[in-house]
Amino acid sequence: MKGLVIYKGKYGATKQYAMWIGQELQLPAASADRFHANELIKYDYFILGSSVYIGKLEIKDWLKKNFYVLQNKKIFFFQVAGSPAEQIEKRESYNKASLSPAILKNIQFYYLPGRMIMRNLSGWDRFMLKMGAKLTKDPVEKKTMLTDFDNVKKENIIPLIEAVQTFTEINEPSMNLV
Ligand SMILES: Cc1cc2nc3c(=O)[nH]c(=O)nc-3n(C[C@H](O)[C@H](O)[C@H](O)COP(=O)(O)O)c2cc1C
Repeated sequence: MKGLVIYKGKYGATKQYAMWIGQELQLPAASADRFHANELIKYDYFILGSSVYIGKLEIKDWLKKNFYVLQNKKIFFFQVAGSPAEQIEKRESYNKASLSPAILKNIQFYYLPGRMIMRNLSGWDRFMLKMGAKLTKDPVEKKTMLTDFDNVKKENIIPLIEAVQTFTEINEPSMNLV
């Protein structure tokens, strides 16, 4: 079975996870911008990754555009964001805000913690973050939004790796049985 890791992020957190996943599973990993529908046809399953900005998935337009090819394939999806991975409802709301129910029902999601370093952000993203903090009433949440964090760790990919390995073991005929 042929698998592919495809990601879309802005400042490297999603890319880092994609590279680790590609290494662990020995699969190619590439930016979504480099892949079009005609190249996707030859793969059997996908591990898609996206970060979240202002409640939306970065990869949403690419996924919508290419979904007619992906709809019959197995899709694992890792979502990278600032909100804690345990806040499942919030994390799910980002998927619902970005993807149609038809796309959502086909995908298995994994929630990974991200990274945000204020000094690396573009002027626009820093501005958007400050606006968001201004509109937030809770003083603790306000402060958290403007504080650097880096929770990108390789161990976070373990559940996803295990799920993909189980999937390929079940669907790939074993060499020993030939
Ligand atoms: C302008 C801006 C908006 C963001 N909006 C959200 C958000 O709505 N929810 C969230 O959980 N994290 C949010 N984040 C945090 C990012 O999802 C997090 O930093 C992620 O790790 C970025 O990954 P990347 O470097 O691959 O793009 C935001 C970050 C920035 C800079």
